[in-house]
Amino acid sequence: KHFKIAVLPGDGIGPEIIESALKVLDVISKKYGITFEYKHGLVGGAAIDETGDPLPPETLKICKESDAVLFGAVGGEKWDNLPTDKRPEKGLLRIRKELELFANIRPAKAYAPLLSSSPLKEEVIKGVDLVVLRELTGDVYFGEPRGREVRNGERVGYNTMIYYEHEIKRIAKVAFEMARNRRKKVTSVDKANVLEVSGLWREVVNEVHADYLDVDLEHMYVDNCAMQLIRRPKDFDVIVTGNIFGDIISDEAGALTGSLGMLPSASIGERYAFYEPIHGSAPDIAGKGIANPIATILSAAMMLEITCKLPQAARDIEKAVEKVLEDDYRTADIWSPGTKKVNTAEMTEEIIKRL
Ligand code: NAI
Ligand code: MG
Repeated sequence: KHFKIAVLPGDGIGPEIIESALKVLDVISKKYGITFEYKHGLVGGAAIDETGDPLPPETLKICKESDAVLFGAVGGEKWDNLPTDKRPEKGLLRIRKELELFANIRPAKAYAPLLSSSPLKEEVIKGVDLVVLRELTGDVYFGEPRGREVRNGERVGYNTMIYYEHEIKRIAKVAFEMARNRRKKVTSVDKANVLEVSGLWREVVNEVHADYLDVDLEHMYVDNCAMQLIRRPKDFDVIVTGNIFGDIISDEAGALTGSLGMLPSASIGERYAFYEPIHGSAPDIAGKGIANPIATILSAAMMLEITCKLPQAARDIEKAVEKVLEDDYRTADIWSPGTKKVNTAEMTEEIIKRL
């Protein structure tokens, strides 16, 4: 099998962590007899410096001709004073829109050797293995009408929370499909006690569930979910929710494990898929070769599972990461006394040794 991958390293630590992910993919490609054809593209500040545009047409073309996009991170002080629509981050927002990515997938998993870095008690966080699936195209972020105006002599601002049936259906399907390959439980999160749109959300999720009766479905109000995630995060498997609730819940879920440098993500659409670490370009440590490459390596593992349909290869990488942590190798961001401090390249080598 042959896959075309658009590689967009971006700014700051982006190029360093992408290099690590590509090294790991090399090993996987030999082991599983698949081939990758990489096309590198400029994005973010790096692209602004070269072309004046955070997402040059050439980069977008590369993405659209690929099976998947592997993305590092964008942004940095150097470009912070540009107007919002010219900034590095705009390149990322435009890619997401152009590729029609409608689902954001963010796993949060507790690694036993890192339990002490979680803000939660060890016994609460131990064994956590959940995924937040956030709808990306609809909701109050894009609903019309929206605006600012003067009514009855005072200023008002308003947005419209709206979901179309087809948007709910397609994300619900993804949720149930994902749950089938996991612990077979979906928690759909809404605010159906007060919102009309949530009433529809719940109705449509129930209808889609009829085709997935082997998966357990529960509905939960978003405020309750925010609380239960802290109280008993272990009970969640797949959490599916709309754009704004998902924005908040996914950050909360990410913070449970307490290690930004470990969190991967995928965003998928009908035709394209996009893989990136959760974290940003970490300008404070850029160029030092000490960034934690694990979030990006695990993002590549998600690519192997979702785009390349090689779940076994993804499991291999996850196991290698677990082993490395068990063997006490740590980059600076997750280091604690008594463990071995390694840099980006050494961490990558240790993971590869265990593949
Ligand atoms: P950040 O995620 O870049 O960094 C936050 C803190 O975590 C820093 O201390 C950083 O050193 C550390 N960190 C992050 N990733 C790490 C890794 N892999 N290994 C070790 N330490 C790591 O967020 P921040 O500082 O708010 O933003 C920096 C720049 O990144 C800004 O320009 C921001 O707009 C951009 N950004 C880009 C994102 C993207 O490309 N998807 C997402 C978030 C921020
Ligand atoms: Mg957010």
